[in-house]
Amino acid sequence: MKKFPAAPMLGAVLVVMLTACDPAIEPIDTTVDLGADPHSYANYEQVRIEHLALALTADFSDRTLSGHVTLDLAQDDLAERLVLDTWRLDVRDINRVGPDGELKPLSWRLADSDPENEYLGAPLIIAMERGVDRIRIDYTTSPDAFGLQWLDGQQTTSGEPFLFSQSQPIFARTWVPLQDTPAVRYTFDAEITVPSDLMAVMGAAGNPTEIQSDGVYEFNMPQPIPSYLMAIGVGKLEFEPTGPRSGVYAEPSLVDAAAEEFSELEAMIDAGEALYGPYRWDRYDLLILPPSFPFGGMENPRLSFITPTVIAGDKSLTALIAHELAHSWSGNLVTNSAWQDLWLNEGFTTYFENRIVEALYGPERAEMEATLDRIGLQEELKELDEAEQVLARDLSGQDPEQAFNGVPYDKGRLFLLWLEDRFGRETLDAFLRQYFDHFAFESIDTEEFIAYLEANLLPQDPDAVSMEQVREWIFEPGLPGYAVLPASGAFDQVDEWRRQWLDGEIELSEIPVDEWTVSEWRHFLLKLGDRLDAEQMAAMDAEFGLTGTGNVEILYLWLVRAIETRYEPGIERLEDFLLEVGRNKFTRPLYEELAATDWGREWAIDVYQRAKPGYHPLTRQAAERALGIASQENVEQR
Ligand code: BES
Ligand code: ZN
Repeated sequence: MKKFPAAPMLGAVLVVMLTACDPAIEPIDTTVDLGADPHSYANYEQVRIEHLALALTADFSDRTLSGHVTLDLAQDDLAERLVLDTWRLDVRDINRVGPDGELKPLSWRLADSDPENEYLGAPLIIAMERGVDRIRIDYTTSPDAFGLQWLDGQQTTSGEPFLFSQSQPIFARTWVPLQDTPAVRYTFDAEITVPSDLMAVMGAAGNPTEIQSDGVYEFNMPQPIPSYLMAIGVGKLEFEPTGPRSGVYAEPSLVDAAAEEFSELEAMIDAGEALYGPYRWDRYDLLILPPSFPFGGMENPRLSFITPTVIAGDKSLTALIAHELAHSWSGNLVTNSAWQDLWLNEGFTTYFENRIVEALYGPERAEMEATLDRIGLQEELKELDEAEQVLARDLSGQDPEQAFNGVPYDKGRLFLLWLEDRFGRETLDAFLRQYFDHFAFESIDTEEFIAYLEANLLPQDPDAVSMEQVREWIFEPGLPGYAVLPASGAFDQVDEWRRQWLDGEIELSEIPVDEWTVSEWRHFLLKLGDRLDAEQMAAMDAEFGLTGTGNVEILYLWLVRAIETRYEPGIERLEDFLLEVGRNKFTRPLYEELAATDWGREWAIDVYQRAKPGYHPLTRQAAERALGIASQENVEQR
């Protein structure tokens, strides 16, 4: 009875099969239209969520969130139905809520998911009766929801369980039935119940500083946000302030180290405000997650989620914090309206991140970091199809995860750097401030940005750039020949030392590594790719102690070299690393490197099987793809 087209296209009409329904209620129309956002079934152009109230209990033994959500709806015309996004939610009951809170059942159907696009989940279709402006959905999440990771006490430093969410790009629907598109914004409040020895925090106002003995926590989010910024964390957390409007949440053993590493948080917020206008989210705190967090950072509003692997002890990896903070303007305040416009979030943020780094640490460090990213982008572009090299890329029929490569980030940044070069910093900064102000708390697409740019920046210097050039940047593959490329002079010196050592002209001890920053180390190690043997690795290790480095960016590149040369002490450290860290930026390529050797795949599969219980669903998925092994879940489904 499958009636899906092979790859549903934008605007295609899908006929869905019924699975769950309330038999007492009349059949309803179950055709579902993938609307303006190809990654959401929601009919948000007819009816929109304006406010959402969550009442959920976290059950660590079942690994579920259970309770209800109440949605306040706004309709332009009379919508006959409301279509929400869900992914493996167990929906028990749906009612309209009357003016005095009385509940009255509504007719609803949970359709099957499209087997070709399982990642979109299943549309939940609710028949709207006249005058319905508030509905309540009672539901429970699935233990394998992609948007949640449940850790037991063996997987945390405190010995207590931990739960965290990751909603971007389309995983909010795995823990809340809602319109899971960045085109829709709503305010929310929440009452979250957790085991009484744990603390709950959210990307919202109302975060506690102490564990509440009754296990009940209340939150509210007065500024409207898109669904991908919904965030919750539960664990044995402590709070330490870093300034009047900032601080860190972490498990007890990490909280001091985190507060020290990120002691410049308040100064970063000030730097952000000085560049692009007021910080509009009141507080900015960090939640330090267990090392299985699949990303470096996630810009959840008021409370960015951060990997513990950036706690290097010397503040050398704080650009990541600058990045997540910068999203408080580019992304959280002015939001891409669909994932094909991701570059409006990530490109602007990468540019902004580097400006904050420059303000705090000076132009040399900023230039080195920008240069490494530029070199990385140019390498990546060689591997990408032309369609993937475009900033505003059509993603209909594709998993939005595909959008997250270096293009929206680093090509997006180079576009802004080019505008800076042509118009001058002062003019571009004033334009960006005005842009954030103009579109504050709105979701916009690429064409709206282009129209705004054409009307507000280009007239300031009519000869600076042409609209053809702007369109080339945004819609054509590759980098325009006239791009302005960051190139740090510090790296020329590093290149020279590397060459001299490889040519036997100098000893390793003659290289002045004590003066190096992480960027110089990375540049040194990057260009040693496929050029070393295990003996040279041992010599470098003896001189620099790289196997024992506490800096994850240096360690990662060292481990890649260790795989290439099958350098035994490095391989041992790699095993420990893979068993502990689930950050996909590192784990995915490490598994890929191992799978590409004649000795490493079986070894890596063995390590993976042991590491898997502690990995996030996204890390598992990427590792299984890298290793070419079938996912357990898929096997069960078949
Ligand atoms: N918004 C992203 C995190 C993200 C990426 C969520 C992909 C979902 C899919 C975040 O702002 C980000 O870009 N994080 C980077 C760090 C940054 C310094 C480039 C990361 O996690 O590596
Ligand atoms: Zn980002």
